[in-house]
Amino acid sequence: MQFFVDTADVSEIEALADTGMLDGVTTNPSLIMKAGRPMLEVIAEIAKLVDGPVSAEVTATEKDAMIAEGRKLAAIAPNIAVKLPLTWDGLKACRALTGDGHMVNVTLCFSAAQALLAAKAGATFISPFVGRLDDLGLDGMKLIEDIRAIYDNDDDLQTEILAASIRTVNHVQAAAIAGADVATIPPGILLKLIEHPLTNKGLETFLADWKTTGQSIL
Ligand code: E4P
Repeated sequence: MQFFVDTADVSEIEALADTGMLDGVTTNPSLIMKAGRPMLEVIAEIAKLVDGPVSAEVTATEKDAMIAEGRKLAAIAPNIAVKLPLTWDGLKACRALTGDGHMVNVTLCFSAAQALLAAKAGATFISPFVGRLDDLGLDGMKLIEDIRAIYDNDDDLQTEILAASIRTVNHVQAAAIAGADVATIPPGILLKLIEHPLTNKGLETFLADWKTTGQSIL
């Protein structure tokens, strides 16, 4: 499973790129607001930092305007994935932009039926929002499982499942088990993936025992 980071904060992306674990980036209008910087400038910087797909979301709601915005965003760099909402206009724009040869990430997916439509519209990625479903007391991970089963039933559906709205380390593990192709992960959660108290405790003991031997490897 590939790891994307879900942020528009360039310094967070720089720090994570250094781990060698970063396969791409997703942004959305709320993350751009949080970054407090001009969108086109931020997206251009991020696209230089990461080789993989960088999702940049349109804000128009009508098909032709979405296509125009999508083409402008895609012109920033070859690794831009245009992010479109899961509406009929969004799906029509998806078909047009993928027809141009651009990557498209269809976002705000909350049902398997929506994911089926996005795949039929030729989306490169579908973004099911796990955490926002869990927030309502629903089972976000079941949606990933259902989409995986639907896509696996039909060789014509080549869309990648991008598990989004990830809130916990457990979400990342469960998305990988459920067959998500990608998870887009908040920076804090990505850094937490490595943590386990037994790793720290075990290392402490190994190093203490090693010290008593008086040896050195170099
Ligand atoms: C996905 O691409 C979205 O940017 C993101 O994962 C939404 O997460 P949230 O529900 O935590 O806002």
